[in-house]
Amino acid sequence: MPWVQQTEVKVKKHDTRVLFSSKSMEWATPRDFFHKLDSQFNFTLDPCARSHNALCSKYFTPDEDGLEQDWSGNKVFVNPPYGRGIGRWFQKAYEESLKKDTTVVMLIPARTDTKYWHKYAMKADEIRLIKGRLKFGGGKNSAPFPSAVIVFSSGAGDPVENPPKLAVM
Ligand SMILES: C[S@@+](CC[C@H](N)C(=O)[O-])C[C@H]1O[C@@H](n2cnc3c(N)ncnc32)[C@H](O)[C@@H]1O
Repeated sequence: MPWVQQTEVKVKKHDTRVLFSSKSMEWATPRDFFHKLDSQFNFTLDPCARSHNALCSKYFTPDEDGLEQDWSGNKVFVNPPYGRGIGRWFQKAYEESLKKDTTVVMLIPARTDTKYWHKYAMKADEIRLIKGRLKFGGGKNSAPFPSAVIVFSSGAGDPVENPPKLAVM
């Protein structure tokens, strides 16, 4: 049956095992992708990082816990750990963006059916849908999920009255 064969090929190409391994927590942002965004936003803080993968000179590690820190006054780039706690990073990003002079840009899986997407991503100023799949961490395989970039800047987002601007990248 043709569709069964197609499914097998897909699983080999996008090895879903990595998505659920602890390694997936460390998936690094593709450097050229980051630089493109950085040239627009001039990021000053990476709140989810380790010393070897931090993208800004100011960063927070798991020991410092970026979720417990103050991000205010920064242009923040967030590629959160893709585990179960990802919803807490959405909430933190949204809440921090309400502070003065604070913009938060998130690179996240485009899981538009999740509660956190509806509760927070839909309050963003912009949602940029990424065409194709990113190759994280310099790997040769594409991610087994689509990604999006969410920009929280004004705090004025409202899913009904003022929905996010949609763009592709
Ligand atoms: C997807 S990686 C992103 C790494 C890098 N900032 C980048 O964008 O390429 C997420 C990083 O967040 C770190 N992390 C996990 N929990 C954290 C926490 N509570 N506070 C700060 N960093 C955390 C992980 O160790 C991992 O290095």
